[in-house]
Amino acid sequence: MLITIVAIDENKGIGLKGKLPWHLKEDLQLFKQNTLHHNILMGQTTYDHMPRKLKDRHTVVCTIDPEYKIEGDDDAEVIYDLKAFLEEHQYDEEEFFICGGASIYRQAYPYCQKAYISFVKGEHEVDTYFDVFNIDDWNIDKEVEYDDFIYREMSRKQPLMVK
Ligand SMILES: NC(=O)c1ccc[n+]([C@@H]2O[C@H](COP(=O)([O-])OP(=O)(O)OC[C@H]3O[C@@H](n4cnc5c(N)ncnc54)[C@H](OP(=O)(O)O)[C@@H]3O)[C@@H](O)[C@H]2O)c1
Repeated sequence: MLITIVAIDENKGIGLKGKLPWHLKEDLQLFKQNTLHHNILMGQTTYDHMPRKLKDRHTVVCTIDPEYKIEGDDDAEVIYDLKAFLEEHQYDEEEFFICGGASIYRQAYPYCQKAYISFVKGEHEVDTYFDVFNIDDWNIDKEVEYDDFIYREMSRKQPLMVK
């Protein structure tokens, strides 16, 4: 199963200059808790801007650059065909987390049956959006309120058969 995991503000903003627009310790803890010992997928931009490698997770990095190499992370692999990857894994029993950034969230959106989203309170300076996200597509299964955001685990109302 493919699961979108993202923090999004009230304008659907998610990023600024390749980084997160905020520092939310509890959101980072939730990300770690949810993704640890699972497979995760992210775009090259997001991977390259991470301050450190994510331990104990198999990381799949999506790029169009055939020369792109990952060094110093034995538990990471590179893919070039995102659509083929999403089609292959959309019905896996195992949880596979889609970790952004914007272009990856947008393309993976129809394939994700679940979304774990931190709805960050307020508006922020951003240059990147999760524009296709529509809360009406989702049922809320779990909700926890923190000072700066509301965390919701959601399932798609109508499972989509993407072909
Ligand atoms: N708020 C959050 O939870 C959260 C989480 C993750 C990331 N972010 C933010 O999102 C921003 C980065 O987003 P982004 O959209 O710029 O970059 P990205 O999605 O991280 O990475 C884009 C990379 O993936 C490649 N790519 C895209 N579609 C592809 C496909 N179909 N096949 C092969 N390669 C493909 C792109 O190639 P091209 O160059 O050709 O497009 C580019 O190299 C950052 O600011 C980051 O902090 C926020």
